[in-house]
Amino acid sequence: MRRLRRAAALPLLLLALAATTTTTPAAAAVAKAPAAAAPPAPPNVTAEMANGGCKAFADLIAASPDASSTYQSAVEGGMTVFCPSDDAVRAFLPKYRNLSADGKAELLLFHAVPVHYSLGSLKSNNGPMNTLATDGAARNFNFTVQNQGDVVTIRTAAGGGAPPARVRSTAVDKDPLAIYVISAVVEPVELFKPAPAPTPAPAPAHAAADAPTKAGKAAARQRHAPPAVADAPGPAAEDNAAPVDQKDAKKSAAAGAPCARWRLAAALAAAVASALA
Ligand SMILES: *[C@@H]1O[C@H](CO)[C@@H](O)[C@H](O)[C@H]1NC(C)=O
Ligand SMILES: *[C@@H]1O[C@H](CO)[C@@H](O)[C@H](O)[C@H]1NC(C)=O
Ligand SMILES: *[C@@H]1O[C@H](CO)[C@@H](O)[C@H](O)[C@H]1NC(C)=O
Repeated sequence: MRRLRRAAALPLLLLALAATTTTTPAAAAVAKAPAAAAPPAPPNVTAEMANGGCKAFADLIAASPDASSTYQSAVEGGMTVFCPSDDAVRAFLPKYRNLSADGKAELLLFHAVPVHYSLGSLKSNNGPMNTLATDGAARNFNFTVQNQGDVVTIRTAAGGGAPPARVRSTAVDKDPLAIYVISAVVEPVELFKPAPAPTPAPAPAHAAADAPTKAGKAAARQRHAPPAVADAPGPAAEDNAAPVDQKDAKKSAAAGAPCARWRLAAALAAAVASALA
């Protein structure tokens, strides 16, 4: 009887489980969520973006449940958003509408990294960066941050030879969140074909070293968090800028978040199954 009543209250149960996954061994094992206590009031990312000059991009995130939940949960561990300006989003809309729902979510998640970078640390952290869309080596969804003079640019091998997106302004920079308005939507190579004559980039040099083995999903997941840290700009990147220790800790904590995202539904299902068993 009690179980039937519980089942009837499934939505409530799901909410409760989502809030207390660490007490459910099955969910904890699957989700591998970083065991960090949530700060009381994390900033509302989409609201901050809209206020900061990229309302169109914030609206796209709000319209994608997967993207908005991941953005909002990732901010607690530190996050930097590269938020395309409204005119950049408008120009990109025909291509955006062409993407599947998953592709849309990936494109949106591709515009944030799970580390808080002030503008200064961004300028001294040139190199490839993993993003919220990164999910193992096969779905790498990285981009390359580079200074051109005093301007920070973001590029991938895709984009059809268009000039790289440039950081135009700082909308927010208040730990744990930074939001930079950029001049163009950045196209991940996972969703858009690289230009026919790709410009030489430093990324391929790392590619060989990070090439995935065919050791199966479990191994890939094991590998995911450490490479995410290693690949994130820092001591391993060309520039030898010294990141603060705290940042490295946050990096490793935040690097697990994208891994957990895709398995959240499975984790909840397992938790419900075990609760009803
Ligand atoms: C963030 O703000 C937007 C608009 O102000 C609101 O619709 C949304 O529910 C808020 N999200 C969270 C997680 O508070
Ligand atoms: C939409 O996708 C189709 C099929 O892949 C492609 O031929 C077309 O060029 C795309 N349109 C835009 C605007 O990207
Ligand atoms: C970036 O992504 C590409 C495409 O998935 C991949 O081949 C490359 O290894 C990645 N680079 C790094 C440094 O992770």
